[in-house]
Amino acid sequence: MKSMNLIGSLSCCMWLVMAMATAAQDSAPVLDTSGQALQSGVDYYIKPAITDNGGRFTLIDRNDSCPFYAGQENTSGPEGFPVTFAPFAEGETVVRETRDQKITFSAFTICVQSTAWKVGETQSETQRRLIVTGIDQNEGLPGPAGNYFRINKQADHDGVYNLQWCPTEVCPTCRFICGDVGALVENDKRLLALDGSVLPVVFEKA
Ligand SMILES: *[C@@H]1O[C@H](CO)[C@@H](O)[C@H](O)[C@H]1NC(C)=O
Ligand SMILES: *[C@@H]1O[C@H](CO)[C@@H](O)[C@H](O)[C@H]1NC(C)=O
Repeated sequence: MKSMNLIGSLSCCMWLVMAMATAAQDSAPVLDTSGQALQSGVDYYIKPAITDNGGRFTLIDRNDSCPFYAGQENTSGPEGFPVTFAPFAEGETVVRETRDQKITFSAFTICVQSTAWKVGETQSETQRRLIVTGIDQNEGLPGPAGNYFRINKQADHDGVYNLQWCPTEVCPTCRFICGDVGALVENDKRLLALDGSVLPVVFEKA
């Protein structure tokens, strides 16, 4: 009886592992502006796909205090910080669509916090969740779920993507209130936030 159960649970889990491996292969790589697959650990600038939507992504000093927030330059130009991607899937070196990635600005700040993106507090006027920087200390979320974002391809637009927070790979049994990443202007500063308009973006190798 006992060994039957063991075989049953083994086959269940092997099936699961195989299903997960297949899923990993099925997701297409995210492409940069020259059509190359995004690699983990390599610097890319994120910028709006359409002009007049602000500039490259950067760190924003929201209110003369730490931590810094994820945001955008006011205008398109050479300013801004690149980011690196770290896939949640162990051993993965390619950044794939609809998979969870940790996104970290390649920059040093005066703050002691990490420059990894994290879902932060709600902005009081709009009730939209801001994207701040720092390591998720499991504040009400399982594991580091607050640090994982995904990249979804825009239908009919090659190389154009949306960013989303919906870390179901980090926690498959969780029911997240997922949100797409867009811009929120506060005191003339462009912050990134969930729960509003979506900002289509492209990835440019630094
Ligand atoms: C900025 O900080 C000041 C002082 O702590 C506070 O009164 C103000 O509400 C803050 N502004 C924002 C946008 O958080
Ligand atoms: C954008 O402009 C505002 C207002 O002039 C300024 O406070 C802010 O620092 C600027 N943002 C960046 C990223 O330079």
